[in-house]
Amino acid sequence: MVSEAPIHSERLVLGIETSCDETAAAVVKHRVGRRGMFEGEILSNIVRSQIEEHQNFGGVVPELAARAHVIYLDQIIERALKEAALDLEEIDAVAVTAGPGLIGGVLVGLTTAKAICAALNKPMIGVNHLEGHALSARLTDGVAFPYVLLLVSGGHTQILLVRGVGDYELWGNSIDDALGEAFDKVAKMLGLDYPGGPAVEKLAREGNRTRFNFPRPLLKRKNLDFSFSGLKTAVRLAAEKIAPLTDTDVADICASFQASVTDIVAARCRGALARFELEYPGMEKVLVVAGGVAANREISNVLGIVCDEVRAILVVPPMHLCTDNGAMIAWAGAERLVLGKQDPLTLVAKARWPLDAHEMRIAGNRTSQI
Ligand code: KG4
Ligand code: ZN
Repeated sequence: MVSEAPIHSERLVLGIETSCDETAAAVVKHRVGRRGMFEGEILSNIVRSQIEEHQNFGGVVPELAARAHVIYLDQIIERALKEAALDLEEIDAVAVTAGPGLIGGVLVGLTTAKAICAALNKPMIGVNHLEGHALSARLTDGVAFPYVLLLVSGGHTQILLVRGVGDYELWGNSIDDALGEAFDKVAKMLGLDYPGGPAVEKLAREGNRTRFNFPRPLLKRKNLDFSFSGLKTAVRLAAEKIAPLTDTDVADICASFQASVTDIVAARCRGALARFELEYPGMEKVLVVAGGVAANREISNVLGIVCDEVRAILVVPPMHLCTDNGAMIAWAGAERLVLGKQDPLTLVAKARWPLDAHEMRIAGNRTSQI
């Protein structure tokens, strides 16, 4: 647990997350010890999921999401403070997701954070949502830099080298759908509930994973990129061919789809760990999995096998910290704060904000208004 931070100190950070369909707030304590050791403690972590608001539509409706954040965010922040037994005045800083995400929702969180910081004269840190996912393994497991990150969420599927806070190198990316999106779309075509990932995983447990031989797109290519749209189409065609679907058909499709996904993800992570070994010979190899799809047990089990094979360490944060939450935003904010990276109240919300261009993007936007 080695930190780059030169100071030994303790900070209480309130984290706010509103970039998609979870209204979330948390309080995290960040401690830096005398020899640069760091540790984090989650004092509270409140998440209000908007599943009910969006379920009838089979996906997130941006306008409804923003409205629900407006209605609930104040109460969620109050609950987070209450559970942490703290007053707002006792918080050292507010960290807030400033993007990427649904812009209406991001604006709700960012405006709230600005109001708190302006009223109480506290520092504000605008956090890249993806950086929140990327650094959460340091909060839960104290992972040291550098490490390989598999970021798999509803909007992103990437393999990144994490060299430090704000220092990422993109090694692989999806050229079309994100993996979470593919899970959600497959679920929708099979008539399963939103969000699709957990529903597909549950049914896959009862299904036959070899009944359908779905494609493993791009696997013959040497790079670390992903593609899921061909796989999604193959699932649709197979389902149409045998319609009407019985419960067994649906379970078999889920299992076969998930088998294809796990093969793809395993191959890419094997490749990434080999590249890490070449670039950092002799250094301990760590693979961190983050983002909502990291909650999938089948995927983490397969990655455990890959890591055993190549003598790497696999770190998967607990499920409630894999999906969107305020604690990861508070932690990423704290990591930035100890490095002196706070933001002005003129910070803009960003719908798109690639992680590997983090510093460049945020610098370019620092002086504009929302
Ligand atoms: O990171 P996240 O909570 O929100 C985004 O930033 O996108 O990820 C949500 C995504 C959704 O697509 C959801 O279906 C997927 O993560 N997901 C899963 C599982 N749990 C959530 N996908 C596969 N298996 C799961 N168990
Ligand atoms: Zn996320």
